[in-house]
Amino acid sequence: MQSWLPFPESASTLSSEVDALYLYLCGVTLFFTLLIYGVVIYFVIRYRRRNPSEIPRPIEGSIKLETLWSVIPLLISMTMFVWGAKVYFAQYRPAKNALEVYVVGKQWMWKFQHATGQREINELHVPVGQRVKLIMTTEDVIHDLFFPEFRIKVDVVPGKYTTQWFEATKPGRYHFFCAEYCGMNHSGMRGYIEVMEPTEYENWLSGNANGTSPAAAGRNLYESLGCVSCHGANAEGGRGPALMGLYGSKPVLNNGQSVLADEGYIRESILNPQAKVVTGFGPIMPAFQGQVSEEQLLQVVAYLKSLSTAKPATATEKPPPASAQPSATPKASPKGK
Ligand code: CUA
Repeated sequence: MQSWLPFPESASTLSSEVDALYLYLCGVTLFFTLLIYGVVIYFVIRYRRRNPSEIPRPIEGSIKLETLWSVIPLLISMTMFVWGAKVYFAQYRPAKNALEVYVVGKQWMWKFQHATGQREINELHVPVGQRVKLIMTTEDVIHDLFFPEFRIKVDVVPGKYTTQWFEATKPGRYHFFCAEYCGMNHSGMRGYIEVMEPTEYENWLSGNANGTSPAAAGRNLYESLGCVSCHGANAEGGRGPALMGLYGSKPVLNNGQSVLADEGYIRESILNPQAKVVTGFGPIMPAFQGQVSEEQLLQVVAYLKSLSTAKPATATEKPPPASAQPSATPKASPKGK
């Protein structure tokens, strides 16, 4: 956005639209503030009482005037609604073909893990010109991840996943913050996002190839937690439903309803399996509440997602768009929903 404005730099595909909407709201507010105060001052002078016995003529009211001052504000507020909804949906609709980054907030740090396994704390490296999808949760209280230069700010909430995407448009180093008061060191819960040229990013990734990918770590947990005994060694199913191809599908539950198997559903089914039991299976699975950390949960989710990408899209899903898959997308990155 214009440098004369006291705004943070505009560095994502959506930030200029957020700025434009914000300026529009400010402009409308300023216009009507000046108009109303101008008219008030004018009327105070023009219609002041000139002598103590002056009695004003009674006013009958005017349908025309009342209609006008109802319809015009309605139209103006609808422009705000429509424009705001457009920006909102653009931001909150899940991104397709995005690099996925898992985010866990905790008092008082931000932990990131890339789909290829690299871990970071209070630092996040991403490529420029590519969509990045954050899948986020928290180990303790509510935090809020705020990237001023990207104009995004989203809560991480205990017990659920929130997602957000962005596409950075300029390489650089940008501050991010926790924007929800979360205790003593809330103000220290911040860091930097490093937006890199794609080749630099590839170098950074290969230079930091130390960790196991979340999907591989999830595979190990799948074995060590004993999931194999009911869901099968290759998630093909047994006493429990098959998990192969589960992610993104719509399993039917024992109450006849179906549910979208997204990250949140998988998480809930691990922690509280009785909540949504797949039809044809008994409520026999033990709850894993308290036995797995948020990071481990994300790893199991990543493993189950990786099983789904290996399979063709289910009937309930639309085929992925024909647009070119960005070359930097790691293999473990699943298709968008
Ligand atoms: Cu975390 Cu404030």
